[in-house]
Amino acid sequence: MREWRPHSEEKISIFEDYIAAFVKAAQRAPNRVYIDAFAGDTVNILSTTGDTFAGSAEIAIGAEPEFTHVALFEKSAKRAEQLRRLRDDHPTRAITVFEGDCNAMMPSALEALPRRAPTFAFLDSDGMELDWRTVQLLADHKRGVSATKVEMWILVSTSGIVRLLGDTKDPVGEARNVERVAHLYGARGPWERVRAARRAHELEPDEARRAYLFLYMDRLANLGYKNLLARPIHNSRGELYVMVFATDHPAGSNIMQWAQEQPRVIKRAPALFDVPEERPAYEDLHTGWREELAFELPNWEDLNK
Ligand SMILES: C[S@@+](CC[C@H](N)C(=O)[O-])C[C@H]1O[C@@H](n2cnc3c(N)ncnc32)[C@H](O)[C@@H]1O
Repeated sequence: MREWRPHSEEKISIFEDYIAAFVKAAQRAPNRVYIDAFAGDTVNILSTTGDTFAGSAEIAIGAEPEFTHVALFEKSAKRAEQLRRLRDDHPTRAITVFEGDCNAMMPSALEALPRRAPTFAFLDSDGMELDWRTVQLLADHKRGVSATKVEMWILVSTSGIVRLLGDTKDPVGEARNVERVAHLYGARGPWERVRAARRAHELEPDEARRAYLFLYMDRLANLGYKNLLARPIHNSRGELYVMVFATDHPAGSNIMQWAQEQPRVIKRAPALFDVPEERPAYEDLHTGWREELAFELPNWEDLNK
């Protein structure tokens, strides 16, 4: 059992809407693949109301038409055991539970999955646990055999990056933090320049946060993804993380945009009536953002030259 704040349920409700549309759009394909790199707990409780809600693995397994192949990764032994129970409730389905670090286990897991099938990967870490090489592996999985790559919905912890790259007087802690961010981006350079600009007060805190996000999106664009969407998730104090969607399908992008813009009930406190909160229309802030900076930012591509 895991207790969640309302923003997690908000994320999962977007996921549920999108997954329902994804399997429908892929219904004619002989296979449909779902990869959950951070599959979590099967019993989720909302801290504000005590309501229970299904986690991503249960939602994906319940989708109709079915995912023909489901790969669930979970590092916690207790949660992996619950996922195995969920799998055992569906004995006729091809559901595999990988107990351990998804970054280490992804290469062998991908070998067992079909490469031409419509594939959705949910990369919903607790914050900083996703390695860039896992994202790269997923993007390469169908390359050369299919016109489209694996679709991904990735939690990018903007508040986590800002925290790890903030000022600290502890050099050991700082080195560890820098290493974690380097794993997340899979390279150094541009984000270090943003950090330096923030420390020199050339950037406001919010500008630095956005720059870190857009750098991550640039990374995905460089993998060849044609459509990227960003959906910020807030708590009452501000942005916690941004869900970034990457797809080669314009239709997938339209459906995710629809799901992201839906008014949603966000149960921030117990209430007599559920009132859906409106969402602002999606704004593509990612395009052209580098030109707005007052300083030169290295490109990811330049690092490889
Ligand atoms: C945000 S939760 C996932 C929630 C889940 N998507 C859901 O809807 O219920 C992140 C999960 O990832 C697990 N985790 C953290 N690091 C991991 C890693 N390197 N590999 C696999 N699982 C990991 C945590 O134990 C936690 O259960």
